[in-house]
Amino acid sequence: MKFDTKVVRAGIEPDPTTGSILPPIYETATFVLPEVGKDLGFDYTRSSNPTRQVLEANLAAIDNGKYAISFASGMSAVDACFKLLTAGDHIVCGDDVYGGVTRLLDNVTAQQGLSITYVDTTNTDAVKAAITSETKMLWIETPTNPLLKVSDMEAMVKISRDAGILLGVDATFATPVFLRPLEFGADIVMHSTTKYLAGHNQIIGGVLITNHEHVFDKMKYIQKTIGAVSSPFDCWLNLSGLKTLHLRMKRHEESALQIAAFLEAHPKIDRVLYPGLPSHPQHAIAKAQMSGFSGMITFELKGGTEAGKTLMNNVQLCGLAESLGSVETMITHPASMTHVDVPVEDRRKRGLTDGIVRLSVGIEDVEDIILDLEKALEKS
Ligand SMILES: Cc1ncc(COP(=O)(O)O)c(C=O)c1O
Repeated sequence: MKFDTKVVRAGIEPDPTTGSILPPIYETATFVLPEVGKDLGFDYTRSSNPTRQVLEANLAAIDNGKYAISFASGMSAVDACFKLLTAGDHIVCGDDVYGGVTRLLDNVTAQQGLSITYVDTTNTDAVKAAITSETKMLWIETPTNPLLKVSDMEAMVKISRDAGILLGVDATFATPVFLRPLEFGADIVMHSTTKYLAGHNQIIGGVLITNHEHVFDKMKYIQKTIGAVSSPFDCWLNLSGLKTLHLRMKRHEESALQIAAFLEAHPKIDRVLYPGLPSHPQHAIAKAQMSGFSGMITFELKGGTEAGKTLMNNVQLCGLAESLGSVETMITHPASMTHVDVPVEDRRKRGLTDGIVRLSVGIEDVEDIILDLEKALEKS
């Protein structure tokens, strides 16, 4: 099956009892057993659920993986990954990651006896140097949130294989349409399905995908024990959103390319970060390893923080909101919103200034989005 067909069809069969073309929403907590010690494939929805299983089959197929586990949120999926490790272990993590991941590592995972080193994962030598004999996992985002740094997948896989550690890749911004980390040899791929994969701002969800049976078994055990499962209704909504993923991503990208070029040429804009622009520091790597550049743009105004805030307070069509990856265009101030819990010194160190604006380009008419930005920029 080709990729676009997988998106629409993989793992989804007509319901055998009614012929329903869509899987039913099995909104049930439990399943009646025919006799003690026997079940019909399911016993309790915290362990497994037929609607969730269809979503997992679809998500595994589109990332070219064997096993997928659907979680209640992207964060619970990330947490389950870190729970593969035990006290005394060390994690090397990208220095520019979603603020919630930093909060989890610094304020929860570290309290459980694990140590963390943040490193710029676009610098291969720095990643190698950060690995110690205690390191058990390399965790990267590519492109990163919010600075859109792109890591060299081949180099990251080589480093983690040489060190005998797990490589986890949060590919939320790229989506499997543009990057499939398992194909490079990554051990685990993670997505916040809240974003592009569901795509319609309806649900909070996450997924982990792997080709290793032992990693899958352990992650499934962690999920079943903790109970961070996605509800049958959310799984169904996610499946519904997924069916147009390939089409939406094409449009997100086409519009983002135009908007990034518009912003870069605008006299009030200081710098634009978009992997599809030749000016992006890792444009060559992005071009080589991704089949597209996705729909996220990060930029800064010459007028700094105040000008950025004025822009965000004056857009009409773009929604000032925390999330990304939906059909609606959303604009975000990372310093006060998504990354507010990253200590200010750490934000400065990684180049996340208070003036940075993040734009998640939706699928509205691109001319309307540009007009909205143009008008708000007049006031900035
Ligand atoms: C790159 C990235 N990873 C993980 C998450 C966490 O996902 P969720 O909000 O679904 O828990 C986010 C949320 O914004 C994100 O942007």
